Amino acid sequence: MKNLYVKFIVITIGMILLSFIMAFIISNAYYQQKLKPYNDDKNTKVALDIAAFAEEHPEIGVQEYLKSISRVGYRICLIDNGGHRTYFGEPFRDKSLSHSVQQQVLEGHIFHGMLHFPKQTFVTGFFADELRNTIGVPLKANGSTYALFIRPDIEFLFNEMHILFAWILAIAIFLTIVMVLIYTRYLVKPISNMTKATKSLAGGDFQVKLDSTRHDELGELSRNFMRMAEKLAQMEDMRKEFISNISHDIQSPLSNIKGYTNLLDTESISKEERNQYISIINNEITRLSTLTKQLLLLASLDRNKEIMKEKPFHLGKQLKELVRNHQWAISEKEIMLSYSLPDLEIVADPSLLNTVWDNLLSNAIKYNKPNGSIEISIEEKEETVIVRLADTGIGMTEAELDRIFDRFYRADQARTRTVEGTGLGLSIVKTIIDLHGGTIQVISKENEGTTFVVELPR
Ligand SMILES: Nc1ncnc2c1ncn2[C@@H]1O[C@H](COP(=O)(O)OP(=O)(O)OP(=O)(O)O)[C@@H](O)[C@H]1O
Ligand SMILES: [Mg+2]
Repeated sequence: MKNLYVKFIVITIGMILLSFIMAFIISNAYYQQKLKPYNDDKNTKVALDIAAFAEEHPEIGVQEYLKSISRVGYRICLIDNGGHRTYFGEPFRDKSLSHSVQQQVLEGHIFHGMLHFPKQTFVTGFFADELRNTIGVPLKANGSTYALFIRPDIEFLFNEMHILFAWILAIAIFLTIVMVLIYTRYLVKPISNMTKATKSLAGGDFQVKLDSTRHDELGELSRNFMRMAEKLAQMEDMRKEFISNISHDIQSPLSNIKGYTNLLDTESISKEERNQYISIINNEITRLSTLTKQLLLLASLDRNKEIMKEKPFHLGKQLKELVRNHQWAISEKEIMLSYSLPDLEIVADPSLLNTVWDNLLSNAIKYNKPNGSIEISIEEKEETVIVRLADTGIGMTEAELDRIFDRFYRADQARTRTVEGTGLGLSIVKTIIDLHGGTIQVISKENEGTTFVVELPR
């Protein structure tokens, strides 16, 4: 059974059948234990009543009387002293009856054939129209003794009401099966659709559409599935964009280098021009080198998380040293830098964190305004440490803020074009902070400034 639909239906019908069998076995046990003796008892009373009535009213005539009794739903066998049998009502299917039983009844004993009928199934027990499955009582009339054997005529008693119940049962079963067929289709359909969607995903088509209006687990699965497909599509786009960005960022310095080396080759250039070209080539090579370093760092951060080498070190000291290294650029741009850096020891990877502060500080310098300011502070919390880096620079819009951690993203090209950069800095920062289990938040207002808040576990 490969198909879920078929499986479901077969199991449901199997369950219906199984319930029937179980119900049958249980009611059979009930019949054997309780109903059978009760039935025997009830019919014994009826037989005794019939015999008593016949005895008390000799004027009616035994034969006539029994004939009329048989018409209300009884099968009767009357045996006289000489063993001669007379039947009333529908004939018995099996007329065998041992001689000793006849004899005992004629002698005045009661025969409980119903109670002692072989313990077979419910059907053969209750429905067997056999002479052995009767109640036998002695009957005295007109001076002679008879043995009277009776049992209810099940076929006769199986009247309209019973047929009606049988129909109700049959229709209910039929409708159950039909509804199971329909409902199962409704239940299984989303799964088949999802299978199709998975195949299309595997084939590279991320545009999947699933029914997400259901409120059950399948609806939720569909919604999550579509979300996943969306994310995959985004990642695929990012991958393509990433490759095209890398290619562009490698290609443009290379073509610059090629152009200026060609120019250097011409003999008519002055010494000044030559120096200028060499300096440009040098810058482009530095740019390429930075780019490759950043890419290598990102790749190794992505690939193995075990790259982190955590150890205790002084955070305040690290930041002060960083400021000292950038002092030249800070004073060149005439930026006011203030800091409050208490010495504080944390456990983290010092070299990776240095990359983080370096990126944040060089951004704060790069995207600052002349005569702007930068403020660095450390705040100590119970389990974390918060580093704040605020600048009064060009700031960013909401839309730009959303994307600054994306690889190669650089905000508004018109404003940042004059500033060197690859757009990888902040994505490296974010990756490193994530690796440390920390968080980074940005508060920024266009033309007013930006504050980065980094929180790290100690
Ligand atoms: N302090 C800041 N003030 C204003 N804009 C900023 C600030 N920091 C980052 N940005 C914006 O976010 C963009 C992404 O920053 P990121 O550091 O990732 O790249 P980059 O500085 O352009 O290049 P890289 O750091 O790789 O040399 C920047 O191009 C800039 O537009
Ligand atoms: Mg940067």
